[in-house]
Amino acid sequence: MKALLPSDPAPAVRLADALDVTPGDDELLVQVEAISVNRGETFRLEDAGPGWRPGKDIAGRVVGAAATGRGPREGARVVAHLDDGGWAERAVVPLDRVAELPDAVDTTTAAALPLAGLTALRLLRATGPVAGRRVLLTGASGGVGHYFVELAAAHGPDLTVVVGTPSRAERLRELGATRAVGSVEEAGRPFDIGLDSVGGDSTQAVLGALTTHGRLVWFGQASRKPPVLDFFDWSGGAMATISKFHYLDDVTPVADDLATLVRLTASGRLHPEIGLHDGWDNANAAIAALLDRRVRGNVVLEVA
Ligand SMILES: NC(=O)c1ccc[n+]([C@@H]2O[C@H](COP(=O)([O-])OP(=O)(O)OC[C@H]3O[C@@H](n4cnc5c(N)ncnc54)[C@H](OP(=O)(O)O)[C@@H]3O)[C@@H](O)[C@H]2O)c1
Repeated sequence: MKALLPSDPAPAVRLADALDVTPGDDELLVQVEAISVNRGETFRLEDAGPGWRPGKDIAGRVVGAAATGRGPREGARVVAHLDDGGWAERAVVPLDRVAELPDAVDTTTAAALPLAGLTALRLLRATGPVAGRRVLLTGASGGVGHYFVELAAAHGPDLTVVVGTPSRAERLRELGATRAVGSVEEAGRPFDIGLDSVGGDSTQAVLGALTTHGRLVWFGQASRKPPVLDFFDWSGGAMATISKFHYLDDVTPVADDLATLVRLTASGRLHPEIGLHDGWDNANAAIAALLDRRVRGNVVLEVA
């Protein structure tokens, strides 16, 4: 089968022949029709060991049901979130990582859901109640940001988003952001909750924009710079709580949260924002666009 394999210079990929895969008893074999590319996956491509194949988010059709008889049947359309190996014509999918798709959710749209959607859903859960709270979100125009804004907005926060350019804010406002600014400094203060995905100086700035007992949740470093916090900076958040977030929380099964994202999309309450849609033979151009901050929302590639 064909698969996207790590290539030089990282994080490049090449479409090449790869060994076909064989599912275990409680796994499906899925014919992959669409994949998504996420920023974090491009970081992982820089550290690719021998034999490792990339790809976390896939959508497609079951061509081999689980031998145990559990899970989706052959022919069912599904979306799945894998640890790796998904950027291929066929993928092995554990039953605890998959959700079946109804007619209302097409395969391309579904491919945009897993990593970014799971992160946003679980980030909102980890953040706790946001109703009426002043919330600040950095890196908001990306895949996670669009989902987070729409999911959070339903709870009624006063939500300020930080975006690179004004045009990247329009859709976020439609999805429920109260205000869009170009930097954390421009956002002013105080905020009850600050969610930072940029890292570097951004994390300190978000901490400084909090109320005395505010909450900082760090969940990414798109800047590639780790945050360095100066606790002698008393500009804000003097008694703040600081949390680190990772989307794989070992609490709720991935399959359950994937099913939630599918249900919300099918019922028109969640709108995946696909900013770049192309064929997987153009994967390198898509990766470059993502890293250059030229994509709003998610990248989805069709598997020819
Ligand atoms: N903790 C977890 O479990 C978890 C899970 C998934 C993702 N993440 C992380 O969360 C972050 C967001 O993920 P995503 O998939 O939404 O990424 P994304 O689609 O690439 O969006 C990230 C956005 O950050 C903004 N940004 C601000 N400063 C930047 C800089 N110096 N360099 C690059 N981008 C910058 C860009 O928007 P503007 O140009 O508009 O500013 C960019 O679109 C990433 O860092 C990712 O690795 C963490």
